[in-house]
Amino acid sequence: MEKEPLDQLGLFDLGGLPQAPTLEIPKGPAGHFWTENKARLIERYLFYFVQITRHGTYIDGFAGPQDLEDLDAWSARLVIESQPGPESFRLQRFHLFDTNAKKVPFLERLRDSRPDLQISVCPRDFNEEVCRLLKPEVIRPTEATFCLIDQHTFECRWSTLQTLAAYKTPKIELFYFFAEGWLNRALANTTVGTEGLTAWWGNDGWRTLSSVRGALRAQHLARRFRYELGYAYSPPFPVYMSRQSQQVVYYMVHASDHPKAIQQMVRAYREQVSAREPVEQPSLPMELAGPPGL
Ligand SMILES: C[S@@+](CC[C@H](N)C(=O)[O-])C[C@H]1O[C@@H](n2cnc3c(N)ncnc32)[C@H](O)[C@@H]1O
Repeated sequence: MEKEPLDQLGLFDLGGLPQAPTLEIPKGPAGHFWTENKARLIERYLFYFVQITRHGTYIDGFAGPQDLEDLDAWSARLVIESQPGPESFRLQRFHLFDTNAKKVPFLERLRDSRPDLQISVCPRDFNEEVCRLLKPEVIRPTEATFCLIDQHTFECRWSTLQTLAAYKTPKIELFYFFAEGWLNRALANTTVGTEGLTAWWGNDGWRTLSSVRGALRAQHLARRFRYELGYAYSPPFPVYMSRQSQQVVYYMVHASDHPKAIQQMVRAYREQVSAREPVEQPSLPMELAGPPGL
């Protein structure tokens, strides 16, 4: 498949277009809004996902609660607690990863709260462990599989996405979180070093990211899921800071091989995000490369 290198996309010839300011993410109710919105979107999408697939495995590579005092906004909890009993279609298998020793007990308690589901907790680096997971005896190639990559900023290596994407056909679905609100600041004051940034982005293209407007760099990243990882669809969805604000905190790239999956995501997004926003929002998906009928 033909690649689209950065220079061919013309992303860096943007003249005087302004850059998005770095966001200060508030603690308390305003900060709560987008994390809860994000978790509800994931939970709602997976409800529709399982109505189509009738079964499924959920992988959460960065699963610990973002805020230990705000467990209502914790995606893994919402997804697991919302699973119905065995008489209904549901996700049956869950693989939860987190390196933070304070967060692992939360994952273990969540696991223990649903003995009717198969939930494994792994307190190690998802980038290192993903290969152990992707074996036919752990995840059958026919198993409908969804993977949440809810990284803070630079934690998920590009090679991890390559491994996930290469495992089976149709591919493992991904929700990949791409920081927007603080990306420029994080790039300027990186704690992971240039090697860490190259591992995250997959090449040294991260060096020019700060000079590109947020929506364009999200579109560029989304294209890479199709041209480099081979997904059929990969629209990026903005996650907003608050009900009133049009400031984007993250873009969430939804990578899938199924046109129906993207349609269900648009439905979940409209129900969970757009419908809750009184201000005018861009209609979705912002990258109009999805299947017909959206
Ligand atoms: C943004 S938070 C996840 C938020 C969570 N999904 C939620 O809904 O609240 C990112 C998590 O990834 C964990 N983490 C960071 N690097 C990791 C790695 N290499 N492997 C696994 N977990 C990691 C952090 O400890 C943190 O709990």
